[in-house]
Amino acid sequence: MKGIVLAGGSGTRLRPSTVSVSKQLIPVYNKPMIYYPLSVLMLAGIREILMITTPHDAPMFQRLLGDGSWLGLEITYAEQAEPNGLAEAFIIGADHIGDDSSALILGDNIFHGPLFSSVLRDNARDVDGCVLFGYPVKDPHRYGVGVTDAEDRLIDLEEKPEHPRSNRAITGLYFYDNDVVDIAARIEPSARGELEITDVNREYLAKGKARLVDLGRGFSWLDTGTHDALLQAGQYVQVMEERQGIRIACLEEVALRMGFIGVDDCHRLGSALSGTDYGRYIMKFAEEFALEEQR
Ligand code: DAU
Repeated sequence: MKGIVLAGGSGTRLRPSTVSVSKQLIPVYNKPMIYYPLSVLMLAGIREILMITTPHDAPMFQRLLGDGSWLGLEITYAEQAEPNGLAEAFIIGADHIGDDSSALILGDNIFHGPLFSSVLRDNARDVDGCVLFGYPVKDPHRYGVGVTDAEDRLIDLEEKPEHPRSNRAITGLYFYDNDVVDIAARIEPSARGELEITDVNREYLAKGKARLVDLGRGFSWLDTGTHDALLQAGQYVQVMEERQGIRIACLEEVALRMGFIGVDDCHRLGSALSGTDYGRYIMKFAEEFALEEQR
């Protein structure tokens, strides 16, 4: 499976913070926003990742993440000239996907919750059609919304409906079989002039090939769309990390856990940041991981 992180857009709602910096590079507590979605693809076992950014922001993403080899990844870059819609990711990313399946994640989506890694791995395997991830919210009109029948089967999908028929938001993480490349190339722009991901998903639904996985109540899917939401997301990460002594979306830790890099590589990455809590956490994690391996 190939991964795509869509990190374009103009971040208008977060101005002036986003006038000179991409929204997805703004910190959420102690790391750049893009770390969170990138960690999700890594936890799904994906190593070949295309990062789509605006032409203006591309050099900054490259400075942060490079070619990804330090994480055992292959990160490549492509540009989206204008925010023409989420589905354009599959037109821009067609060569990257080739004849493989793909996972798209939006660069501003933060996921955290129990057993998420196994949910990701289970659903990334042998994708036939599309897999969507639903999450209950109190303001579904702001999102793509999934409607299910009494047996919890997905029966409809709507983009930002004025009168939502369910509280099930469709989150910004999508798994697709290879048909997505053709479907995205065929759809027409919506009334707001965008190639809508919901239109792609509706095509799969019409063929009986759209599956909804419920992330449920114990899970956190955090918004970063406004200054308040961004601050709350940072506070959530701070509280969880401080209370549990863990790190959310520490890429070096995820890379080691997934077997993308070795213990020594991980320790070295930590020591390069040893003046920070983040670096010390990585070194300690690598040391504990090595001890655990010896047992
Ligand atoms: O976050 C989940 C929601 O994302 C879904 O529930 C909706 O179905 C989906 O349409 C999308 O809704 P948003 O209103 O959040 O989309 P927005 O235009 O804000 O874009 C989401 C992110 O993707 C944002 O960080 C900017 C980036 N983006 C957006 C567009 C339209 C791009 O990189 N390129 C684009 O062309």
